[in-house]
Amino acid sequence: MKKYSVTIVGGGSIRNPELLAMLANHKNEFPLKRIVLYDNVPENNELVGKYGEILIREYYPELDEFTYTSDPDVAFTGIDFALCQIRAGLMDMRVQDEHIPMKHGCVGQETCGAGGFAYGLRSVPAIIEIVKMIRERSPEAWILNYSNPAAIVAEATKRVFPDDFRILNICDMPIAIMDRYGELMGCTRNDFEPRYFGLNHFGWFTHVYDKKTGKDLAPEIKEKLKNARFGEGNEEHTMEKSWVETYNFMGKMLEDYPEYLPNTYLKYYLYPRHVVETTDPNHTRADEILEWKAPHIKNMMKEVVELGKIKGTKYDLGDNRSVHASYIVELAMSILNNENRIFLIITKNNGTVPNLDPDMMLEVACRVGSNGVEPLGMEPVSTFYKGMIENQYAYEKLTVDGLMERNKTKLLQALALNRTVNDTDLAKELLEDLIDANEPFWGKYFK
Ligand code: G6P
Ligand code: MN
Repeated sequence: MKKYSVTIVGGGSIRNPELLAMLANHKNEFPLKRIVLYDNVPENNELVGKYGEILIREYYPELDEFTYTSDPDVAFTGIDFALCQIRAGLMDMRVQDEHIPMKHGCVGQETCGAGGFAYGLRSVPAIIEIVKMIRERSPEAWILNYSNPAAIVAEATKRVFPDDFRILNICDMPIAIMDRYGELMGCTRNDFEPRYFGLNHFGWFTHVYDKKTGKDLAPEIKEKLKNARFGEGNEEHTMEKSWVETYNFMGKMLEDYPEYLPNTYLKYYLYPRHVVETTDPNHTRADEILEWKAPHIKNMMKEVVELGKIKGTKYDLGDNRSVHASYIVELAMSILNNENRIFLIITKNNGTVPNLDPDMMLEVACRVGSNGVEPLGMEPVSTFYKGMIENQYAYEKLTVDGLMERNKTKLLQALALNRTVNDTDLAKELLEDLIDANEPFWGKYFK
């Protein structure tokens, strides 16, 4: 059986312990010979790297090589897959992205609204550089990119690498939502075959088919979702409170808009007033992560490094197969074995939804195989969705245009179009604040 070489870009991320454990758990389906962590911040990479060395030694002895590096030649030469999940500006800038809009009374969110706009402007140049570094060294590697804000990133990679069918932009939010549907229906997301349309973090499930019978389970899921209270009375649930609220909000959205099952992120666009009123402007999701999740995971890694082992300690991985992150392996397998299974991918519309711009980067159900992705055709979308999506796509396009053309008017137009901003004077004030905070990144071009 062929063995593959994988590089994780953004090696220092606190999400990587789970990712490494998942790869080790799936060694039979997706056999690897080499895993490399790449990061341009050596300190972060080293902590995950030292932890990873122990994990690999104990749980993946079949692997020929595990290493961590900041050297692109080591990281990107002769690889089969790059898993990209970078955070340009790290958590410090995520705090800014979330706090600055809140100061102006707007939604402060990592990927949505003015925060997502500032993050997009940082991410795009970083991703383009990484893809170029990979392509110079591994022209045929599959690049599975889930760096955020994925909608803006995908719009940019489409423009710069138009024919590169081995760049796949994906998001785990619909996966996590289907995990929730599985809880409601007493099965797992792998029992479902979804149909979905929209932009990234801005879309709807139209159907959720039972894979075996073909029956559309969406009506039943909708009923259950309206009364669902996730994360309560279930010991196994370690979901954080803010996520529990976000999942529970799907039921509220369905009461107002019963037609399709909404992505959780629509909350920020359809209920911005509620979001602002219920968020502490000085304590957003980024603060939550910095206070609890990040130190918790970092301390775990430090302790393991000190102990020199994972097995037999309280951090033992057992045979707890991470179902959530395993979608990455499912996707890789579908490519490698040309399985043509269905995944939700962010890809060029090209007539998939006939009444939307053919150039739009849609998130939609696609068959994925060794020749790339093939979207499943859909019906035209009705007025509400068409209006929402076209407005949001114009915002995304103008964000990328503004950056690439160094055109400040287009950046202002982008922000003014964003549903979470809307007012021109507000957009101008926000833009100046975001330019200042992002001076070392894109801000310097717009002073
Ligand atoms: C979901 C989204 C990601 C996003 C993440 C944020 O998984 O699909 O795009 O980055 O949520 O989660 P966090 O726990 O960092 O707030
Ligand atoms: Mn996402």
